[in-house]
Amino acid sequence: MDIARTPANPDGNIEMADAAVEPKAPPEIRREDYKPFPWLVPETRLDFDLGLDSTRVRSRLTVVHNEKSPRSSTIRLNGDGLTPTSVKVDGEVSRAYVMDGDDLILTLDDNAHEIAIETEIDPSANSQLMGLYASSGMLCTQCEAEGFRRITFFPDRPDVLSTYTVKMSGPKALFPILLCNGNKVAEGEDGENHWAEWHDPWPKPSYLFALVAGDLVARTDRFTTMNGREVELNVYVRDGDLERTEHAMESLKRSMKWDEEVFGREYDLDLFNIVAVSDFNMGAMENKGLNVFNTKYVLADPETATDGDYDGVEGVIGHEYFHNWSGNRITCRDWFQLSLKEGFTVLRDQLFSQDMGSEPVKRIEDVRVLRGVQFPEDSGPLAHPIRPDSYREISNFYTSTVYNKGAEVIRMMKTMAGDEAFRKGTDTYFDRHDGEAATCEDFVKSIEDGAGLDLTQFRLWYSQAGTPKVTVELAHEGDEAVLTLTQTVPDTPGQTDKKPMPIPLKIALFDRTSGKHSGEELIVLDKASDTFRFGGFAEKPVLSINRSFSAPVTIQRDIAGEDLVFLAAKDDDPFARYEAMQDLMVGHLVPAAKGELSDETREAGRKDIVGALKAVIEDESLDDLMRGELLSMPSQTYISEQIEAADPGRIFEEREALKAHIGSALKDELHRLYERAEKVPYSMSAEAKGARKLKTLILVYAAASDPQKAAELAAHQYDHADNMTDRQGALMVLTGIDSAERTGKLIDFYNRYEGNALVIDKWFSLQAMSLHPQVIEHVKALADHEDFTMKNPNRVRSLYMAFAANPHGFHAASGEGYRMIADLILELDPINAQTAARFVPALGRWRKMEPARSALMREQLERIAAAPKLSRDTFEQVTRSLG
Ligand code: PHE
Ligand code: ZN
Repeated sequence: MDIARTPANPDGNIEMADAAVEPKAPPEIRREDYKPFPWLVPETRLDFDLGLDSTRVRSRLTVVHNEKSPRSSTIRLNGDGLTPTSVKVDGEVSRAYVMDGDDLILTLDDNAHEIAIETEIDPSANSQLMGLYASSGMLCTQCEAEGFRRITFFPDRPDVLSTYTVKMSGPKALFPILLCNGNKVAEGEDGENHWAEWHDPWPKPSYLFALVAGDLVARTDRFTTMNGREVELNVYVRDGDLERTEHAMESLKRSMKWDEEVFGREYDLDLFNIVAVSDFNMGAMENKGLNVFNTKYVLADPETATDGDYDGVEGVIGHEYFHNWSGNRITCRDWFQLSLKEGFTVLRDQLFSQDMGSEPVKRIEDVRVLRGVQFPEDSGPLAHPIRPDSYREISNFYTSTVYNKGAEVIRMMKTMAGDEAFRKGTDTYFDRHDGEAATCEDFVKSIEDGAGLDLTQFRLWYSQAGTPKVTVELAHEGDEAVLTLTQTVPDTPGQTDKKPMPIPLKIALFDRTSGKHSGEELIVLDKASDTFRFGGFAEKPVLSINRSFSAPVTIQRDIAGEDLVFLAAKDDDPFARYEAMQDLMVGHLVPAAKGELSDETREAGRKDIVGALKAVIEDESLDDLMRGELLSMPSQTYISEQIEAADPGRIFEEREALKAHIGSALKDELHRLYERAEKVPYSMSAEAKGARKLKTLILVYAAASDPQKAAELAAHQYDHADNMTDRQGALMVLTGIDSAERTGKLIDFYNRYEGNALVIDKWFSLQAMSLHPQVIEHVKALADHEDFTMKNPNRVRSLYMAFAANPHGFHAASGEGYRMIADLILELDPINAQTAARFVPALGRWRKMEPARSALMREQLERIAAAPKLSRDTFEQVTRSLG
């Protein structure tokens, strides 16, 4: 599509109007068009008269000419669906304003003015959950990225930093708790109403503004910072949820301590509040001093939260807290720089979780997310660099690429620099840019200077999309091991003929006889192809490469099955060991799904796999968390990524067949393992978590090999569970088996947890993810269940995200799964566009599928595209997916 380019409008706002060419297309915003805003807004005063159906907002902004920009006679204040009820400049009612679409443009004659605007909004009618909205009787806000403009007219861009003073008033009975950013500086009562005034001393962009009003209770604690600041900590929830906030609070304190110790970052206010809300588009939000969280990432107790949920709470609490420096103290100049705060903060939360639990297992989990979500994104129609060049709707760019690949890119810098030098780099970044709205380039330059690295060529990781592929060949010449590496960076939409990138690869060469290597080395492949020689090898060693997943690339290696068996048993890098095990299984399943296995190779492959798994079961040096990773099969998505024109049905069958084979071949070993694990009492120790992971994993294998026996075992585990991990695991297995136990336990689970939204979400998910042959009928019935609602994103995701991730349901050969997701997108789009658009990528994989399914998926995308009215979010995702 050819979009006409128009010069940036006179006031320098980077939003441009080019809609004329393609009537339906919202304008494309380009990174290269960035201009500073011509006005500074040193002070912002907001007055809220709060009501669920009607809230009046009065804003007073002081604006002064920005010296870094040519003098402008107008100011553009962004709005979204707002009508001003009063506009004043310097106290006088202004006639000199015009509306340009949703924005308000004022004429200003001088260098400094005071602008006062009133708006009125209806939080109850806000189903998009952006701006100010009502969530079960309370009021809360979500402003990132462009939600503030749904509250009041403002230069709603991250490079306009302002100091906020906010007065909120409302009925005391409805809103006993009134919260905002910063510190409460005054409060009072006024009949049935009460009010509070809050001041945030730290200048911030509008996307970090937050307000909460409601009937809430808090768990309160304290933290003393490294320089002796006494900080009051609160976790606010609804009455009745208080007992489930302990883990969140402990995670917060650990995050605060960790950031001091590892990054030297101290908290900078006397108060830190977290509020949990049940209607939320994302995981959580780092608003200054007032983080707003999806309840999913706050509430946890053993009865209702799994070990995975506990880890999620800790990780997200850490993530939002770490944003206080990587995001708030230093924010983004524009939204193209999103990975500046998100990539870095994801890395920080990953390192935090690694330090709190098992480092290798956390690394494996993170790589699994990257390969399961980001790699497919990078190889599909929505591929974009971690610093995108253009967008139509920024909400669509809160992607795994910006977040997870962004984190990997910074992790590579850390690997190349070493921990100490990397810390010098981050210190330089925080020193240099504190208080600023910075760019990815600022970050790279700081690491370069502080850590003493040359990152000239490395910057390509910010501009080139696509997952590099590294082909590995190992030869043996004389007493030398000769390693030849070749890289290609695949074409992605709008990008071809890419340059080679620096790829840091940790390697080790194992002596076959001793089973040892003489030290890990870091090599950097920075050419299209390069050769590395290593002396002192009488026989050809076994190569372990991309250890600890040092680079986010795919490795193409021609490696013998016996060498993979060797690495799966002996590699001292836990990640590489896991990788060898996965490769062994993928190397079997890919040709199997393509119909390329002879009976003989099938037998041989299965034998290798079973042998390697048996060694893992018997290896006493392993802890059970790690053992669980090594015993897990590669996911369907991961396998299908390795196949051109994949047939999900075939992959599914082969994967199930291998699962069944393993289940019966290792029946006794797995059974003994289960019996051992069953004896470990519930606790949060690594040992107990490992035992729980094994139990459910063993049920999964049993379900494939001996479903009736598995159903009995699972029912037993369900009945005797004293925690959600065991109970959910058992029920997950049961939902896939057509058995008497299935229905009974599903009913029991529902009755047991009725009214607990987060657990009922699990109940929906388990059924939508199930391997049951009638999964599509089940999902349809669940959509009509009285507890299902399109208004709550957690509930929508629990049913439909789970279903879209279930290859067995979503990819049903009839195309019915695709139609269901398309129907959902169309129905949800007017209610919650952001959430609706997040379902498009599932259909966007059409090019990767075998022809029949490919056509069916495309047909559904076209049906969505033809809808008379689509949100900007869904429009952009569908157009790119078809493009
Ligand atoms: N900035 C949030 C985070 O990653 C994510 C978010 C984006 C939340 C947009 C809400 C809306 O921590
Ligand atoms: Zn974040």
